[in-house]
Amino acid sequence: MNNITLRTTSTALQLHCSTCGKTHTIHEVQSVSTCCESALLVDYDLDLSIDKSELSNLANGMWRYESLLPVFEYANRVSMGEGMTPLISLRHTFRRFGFENVYLKDESGNPTGSFKARGISVAVSKALELGVETVVIPTAGNAGGALSAYGKRAGLNVIVVMPRLTPEPFKEEVISYGAELILVDGLINACGKMAQKIEEVKNAFNMSTLMEPYRIEGKKTMGLEIVEQLKWEVPDVIIYPTGGGTGIIGIWKALQEMEILGWIDSKRPRMIAVQSENCQPVVDALANKTINPDLYKPSVANGLVVPNPVGLTMITNIINVSGGKAISVKEEDIMLGIDDLANSEGILPSPEGGAVWAAFMKMLEARELHFKERIVLMNTASGYKYSGQ
Ligand SMILES: Cc1ncc(COP(=O)(O)O)c(C=O)c1O
Ligand SMILES: [Zn+2]
Repeated sequence: MNNITLRTTSTALQLHCSTCGKTHTIHEVQSVSTCCESALLVDYDLDLSIDKSELSNLANGMWRYESLLPVFEYANRVSMGEGMTPLISLRHTFRRFGFENVYLKDESGNPTGSFKARGISVAVSKALELGVETVVIPTAGNAGGALSAYGKRAGLNVIVVMPRLTPEPFKEEVISYGAELILVDGLINACGKMAQKIEEVKNAFNMSTLMEPYRIEGKKTMGLEIVEQLKWEVPDVIIYPTGGGTGIIGIWKALQEMEILGWIDSKRPRMIAVQSENCQPVVDALANKTINPDLYKPSVANGLVVPNPVGLTMITNIINVSGGKAISVKEEDIMLGIDDLANSEGILPSPEGGAVWAAFMKMLEARELHFKERIVLMNTASGYKYSGQ
């Protein structure tokens, strides 16, 4: 039988070092850059004209943007229907404040119940394309669940390293998919160290945020979708629950690529990073405070607890350039935010989504938003994932 390989329309060319720009091949397994040990980012051939009006003829998920994704062959695509999550108007709640254009990008409906499915779908597809067999990931919960599911679907061996304090449903999820679960005393930075050891001992590829070049490409699709769903208008504000920061970096990359393609102009949203007061390195870095990762504590929003984000400089640069800011919220306000969103709109968010709601309320009270602005709040995961606790 002939082995016919069907090529996607991917225009991916190469990777470049996020610190010095040195290019790296995309046709071999890559982790961080060989020059500066920094994150590698994918370059596309954006001189090719890609017609945005044709997108609507393509499948209704994140892979409709396949030209701007790094997977070359359809056979390697590991997909379960990620993306094209709804952008829901919150007009009912905010009309009384005079705000007509507030939206919730609700990521609950992704496979495995969180936005992590996007990045993991791309990363696992690319791992398959490059012949990786065993993968390891340090995780606050959601990424581990997603990698267990997608990795198993791709026939990979999956090892997940999680803080022992993580809520039980996240551990059960990993075990259900038959992945190996390793629990660590400490936060995700301790898990990161353990994952590096496992990488060497078990010859596993490390899927840790920004140490793997393709998760960010999947996260990027959130930015593409938000703009497409707003009929190619860039919002004025995006409020995003920030841990490792790949969402913010990915959304920003999407905006840059869309501008080069001529899909949007140079307008950018103010990027607002939301953190928990228990662990707020982005807030502290922007306030020029010295960061001591050991002083940060766990939060009910476990996805936000990344004491030492690898991409901290990239995150703070984006926030500054965008004219945005970082805000931290109290644990009790995160809990109130969950109930308030559920009560007002009938959507049960993850604690990270509750934190975003709380931050939005704080900004409203401080009059930091204008009623005419288009504002997008992100709920990154489903509250149902937490209901078995
Ligand atoms: C539900 C949820 N929201 C937000 C985050 C933080 O995401 P990012 O790495 O894009 O900052 C995480 C990360 O674990 C998460 O699980
Ligand atoms: Zn470099």
